[in-house]
Amino acid sequence: MKKITASAPGKVILFGEHAVVYGAGAIALAINIRSFAAVHTIPEDHLLIRAQNINLSQKIPLKWESLEQQMNQSKALGPILKCCLQIFEKKMPTTGLMLDLWSDLPIGAGLGSSAATSVAILGALNAFFDLNLSHEIISSLAFQAERLVHGTPSGIDNTVSTHGGAIFFKKGLMKPLKLRSEIPILILNTNIERTTGFWVEQVRKSYREHSQVFANLFQSVDKISQKGRYLLERGNLRELGALMNTNQGILEAMGVSTPELSDIITGVRRLDIYGVKITGAGGGGCIIILCDPRKISDTERQLKQIYDIQQTTLSRKGVKIEKTIS
Ligand code: PMV
Repeated sequence: MKKITASAPGKVILFGEHAVVYGAGAIALAINIRSFAAVHTIPEDHLLIRAQNINLSQKIPLKWESLEQQMNQSKALGPILKCCLQIFEKKMPTTGLMLDLWSDLPIGAGLGSSAATSVAILGALNAFFDLNLSHEIISSLAFQAERLVHGTPSGIDNTVSTHGGAIFFKKGLMKPLKLRSEIPILILNTNIERTTGFWVEQVRKSYREHSQVFANLFQSVDKISQKGRYLLERGNLRELGALMNTNQGILEAMGVSTPELSDIITGVRRLDIYGVKITGAGGGGCIIILCDPRKISDTERQLKQIYDIQQTTLSRKGVKIEKTIS
């Protein structure tokens, strides 16, 4: 039995969330927490999808209309099937298939779990059908799946998950960054649920009402990301932290930092750290903290008494094949 297992990393956004949707630059780092997809043949003429993290198990006849219908009807299956159908357009399976999905990333927490899942699925199917798709194509197909999750993604999540490493991203442009040192980041999960689509829509409404003000905010974020890129490549962590704090101030101005998030961030800022901000869409989810590498374990210990917190490291690898059984 042929079986391929692929994985793709989640991410943190160091600078530029929301503004990136409007064309500003942003910086994202792939992290060593991953989503996985395994694909193998089964005797029945079905596509069997099992997604452990969301307790989903669904059998769909391997017919174009049935797959498309499910894609349009089911919110949970939509992006998964979008990935499958884009691959089946290139190569329709001649036997039944089982697609097993699982993830170490928390769902809906701003760490890019949906994009990582799409990229892992595409990576697994690409290898399974020997399609030889480039990273650029995999990322663009994952972007189409992301569009089903929230209508107007910037493309940063699928790009960093596919390519891995640290990237500077602007719509239509991706530059891998060369880092001088490890980036000692703590991820604090507030465990406050939120959806990216909702918060992207909130910002869109505010932008419509106060377009000039918001255009200026986006422009400031663009400048922060450009400066951030310079500092990151020189390993100036202290200044990077100061810029993260400035970016957080702008996210507050955009209205995506709720009072709960702002309270946590104010508390964290009292510690001996370089910078702290929301990562991702805001409204809940995760907060990232940049520390002096010599002090990170101490900070982690202090915060662990109250919060769900973990250290993360950069994942230089984007989408990759974990295991092949032929
Ligand atoms: O899905 P999240 O929470 O990682 O947010 C992605 C970043 C946004 O800028 C808010 C949206 C986007 O598509 O860039």
